[in-house]
Amino acid sequence: MDTQTMSDQVKIFDTTLRDGEQSPGISLDEGEKVEIAEQLARLGVDIIEAGFPVASQGDFEAVHAIANAISGPTICGLSRTAHKDIDRCWEAIEPAEKRRIHTFIATSPTHMKHKLRMTPEQVKEEARSAVRHARSYTEDVEFSPEDASRSDFDFMCEVLQIAVEEGATTLNIPDTVGYGVPEDYAAKIRSIRERVSGDYVISTHCHNDLGLAVANSLAGVMAGARQVECAVNGIGERAGNAALEEIAMAVKTRSDYFEGLDVNINTKELQRTSKLVSRLTGYPVQYNKAVVGRNAFAHEAGIHQHGVLRERTTYEIMDPDAVGQGESQIVLGKHSGRYAFADRLRQLGYDIKGDALNASFTRFKELADRKVQLSDADLEAIVADEVGTSGENVFALEFLECHGGSIASGTPHATVVVSKDGEQKMIRCEGDGMVDAACSAIKEATCVEGKLTDYTVTSVTGGVDALADVALQFTSEEGIKVGGRGLSTDVVEASARAFLNAVNKVSIIRSDSPQVATEDRPGHLSAELR
Ligand code: KIV
Ligand code: ZN
Repeated sequence: MDTQTMSDQVKIFDTTLRDGEQSPGISLDEGEKVEIAEQLARLGVDIIEAGFPVASQGDFEAVHAIANAISGPTICGLSRTAHKDIDRCWEAIEPAEKRRIHTFIATSPTHMKHKLRMTPEQVKEEARSAVRHARSYTEDVEFSPEDASRSDFDFMCEVLQIAVEEGATTLNIPDTVGYGVPEDYAAKIRSIRERVSGDYVISTHCHNDLGLAVANSLAGVMAGARQVECAVNGIGERAGNAALEEIAMAVKTRSDYFEGLDVNINTKELQRTSKLVSRLTGYPVQYNKAVVGRNAFAHEAGIHQHGVLRERTTYEIMDPDAVGQGESQIVLGKHSGRYAFADRLRQLGYDIKGDALNASFTRFKELADRKVQLSDADLEAIVADEVGTSGENVFALEFLECHGGSIASGTPHATVVVSKDGEQKMIRCEGDGMVDAACSAIKEATCVEGKLTDYTVTSVTGGVDALADVALQFTSEEGIKVGGRGLSTDVVEASARAFLNAVNKVSIIRSDSPQVATEDRPGHLSAELR
């Protein structure tokens, strides 16, 4: 008979500092644990499982320090059924305003036989005596039949009934090895409510070995569980525990499905909490992690970007601000569309349209194909490179291939294909280096002779995939002085583009000044174009 009082509030029992800290390679010191506990209190969790006090002196002291420092949430300590464990647990949590002892013993055949080496009868007695002993300290006692999913269900219910009769107020049903599947786990929770009588709250504690920890926990909630044990970023033994942030946002976002249930979580603190736990544990958060991953609100596909820029909810079911992630992000990469590209440029102060926008967008796509993401500095460089030249080019660089290296690899050479009015010319030249060879080939292909008078390369951003920004000065044979700019992830290509940019300017000046556009040009013309 189910005599539990069902509430609309699902308690969040955070086990980041206990099960989470049991993750391989994580070892938090006392100060770090207190810092995380303070943040968990700000986040609004109902219960903090602060540690396993009998496990070590360090664990005891950390739990004790948290019990002293934290107000708000209940502070819970874990303990096996041995009375000395329970005594130590109580000693550690005693200073807290609100205290809970969580005691557990395994009920699955494999755990009883191989780990505990106890008969089912002995396990029942252990559970009885542990809960009774814990109740001599506090009224708030939680009991867990470890490895519940693989336990004989009738036997487990007998043990749970004993725990309730001895005064346990929370019955936690651990899917210790992540074996459960949602419907089956939910059916178990429902049956426990029918078969175990008394006044208690059912709790879920699901591990993620099959990637089902959050799904199983939520199925448990739908079946009547009113406490969820979970950890920030889903850390915990092996594949971890149910992720706190996912549980909280699922209940809030799908309030239509969770029928008026709620969690007491200040969701704006989720991102900050995730970052703190990641920093102190050294466990990175995967980029595409739900809710707190850095890509959780980032859009790269052109269609998605277009949608989100018009109306955020087209591709977002949560508001990034509501989880502390600020604003949606439009990531400019090779899948981005013109709409998002122009929007970003407008934000950077470039309101370009028409041919200039088309030319810049084409360059952006070419570069994005080579560089995964383009920064704002990259975009500005593209615009600076394209805006001055678009629509006015006489020659276009269609192809560039070069060969270089150490002396033993032979004379550097470059092959270029340059087009003018739809006609292409291919030229191969040798040079002192690949840049020199490429520039010589361009001169020959365009019939524009002259001298490079200045040449500088700067990197637009850091990293090996940074864009090279080449700026040069060129003086044609008749004395026209022009500047050229070129941009590419490849220094030789950036140089060739800068050189062709200068050559184009010379050609435009020549065609604007017919007197110099002939074979017998005057020796000197002081036109300058930058
Ligand atoms: O996974 C588990 O069974 C546990 C118990 C101690 C609750 O962490
Ligand atoms: Zn666990």
